[in-house]
Amino acid sequence: MTDAFANRLRKNLAHWKKWARRRGITCFRIYDRDIPQFPFAIDWYETVSPRAETHLHVQEIDTGWKMTDADYTAWLNTVCEAICGVCALPAAQLHLKRRERQRGTLQYEKLDHAAAESFVILEAGHRFEANFDTYLDTGLFLDHRPMRALVAETIAERAKREAGTRFLNLFAYTGSFTVHAALAGASHSTTVDLSNTYQAWTARNLALNGIDTRRHTLARADVLAWLVQAVASRERYDVIVLDPPSFSNSKKMVEVLDVQRDHVGLVSQCGELLAGGGELFFSTNLRSFELDPPLAQKWSLREITHQSVPEDFRRPSRRGPHRAWHTTI
Ligand SMILES: C[S@@+](CC[C@H](N)C(=O)[O-])C[C@H]1O[C@@H](n2cnc3c(N)ncnc32)[C@H](O)[C@@H]1O
Repeated sequence: MTDAFANRLRKNLAHWKKWARRRGITCFRIYDRDIPQFPFAIDWYETVSPRAETHLHVQEIDTGWKMTDADYTAWLNTVCEAICGVCALPAAQLHLKRRERQRGTLQYEKLDHAAAESFVILEAGHRFEANFDTYLDTGLFLDHRPMRALVAETIAERAKREAGTRFLNLFAYTGSFTVHAALAGASHSTTVDLSNTYQAWTARNLALNGIDTRRHTLARADVLAWLVQAVASRERYDVIVLDPPSFSNSKKMVEVLDVQRDHVGLVSQCGELLAGGGELFFSTNLRSFELDPPLAQKWSLREITHQSVPEDFRRPSRRGPHRAWHTTI
């Protein structure tokens, strides 16, 4: 059975490598549960610093299957060996995130987070810090690659027409949209996230790209509270990215965030912050998400999921990793 998986992965790898080379893409998805008995998402990352090498980020997806501990460990080891074999990479360059962490150790799972290395990867020629071991995610959500390009294009177009494009990035994570926006010509930006860890990561991403932090500022704040204050003080932005988590519940927040329940308020507040002719990009990865119809009508939201989900993340029989909408007011 592992042979079938290895064969499929080999075919996928040849296809996606060629696809990526043609587009100048160096980080991409090479396998996404293509064989249901091997429920993994495997991403290929080419690093440029501190060494040029390839790393694989392998996420096991929880399907609820039950196996004995011994069978599970043996199976995961075999799968990881097959992946390393097909990709011709050493075990140290495969980073496994498995659904249950407590059972026996595997050489593919780097548990010493303090020693985890950071790397620099490239997207559209811009530099981003990636970490394959410490957190569940790597620092760059690859499924948003086309949306980052779309935001950059939008800003570059505006910057050609008029001086002074103001960009707002809400729930910014490591600030990748901000890097693209600033390098596309945004004159000013505000990047809001609640997490100190991620704001520090954003600061490093801005520094990696030589972005001036006097014009591109970071706000460590709860977006829900920050928006109330920004609307009250009549702030204005030309382009906004709103990409909330599905749910969020932190000690630093006054209220729990639930994107299904709260998106009407969030989108409406963003609408109020847009300058004339301003544009909003709204994205969610909640699988069951339903956009409120009166909201869609009021702000003329147009679904852009077909453009924003990259080919390497599309699977015919499955919902994509996110859905996205756009509006110009
Ligand atoms: C899904 S990620 C956003 C992904 C990001 N837009 C990107 O494409 O790279 C969610 C982020 O929201 C932040 N977050 C969660 N609740 C928040 C809140 N109430 N206010 C501000 N940030 C919040 C988390 O710290 C995390 O960085």
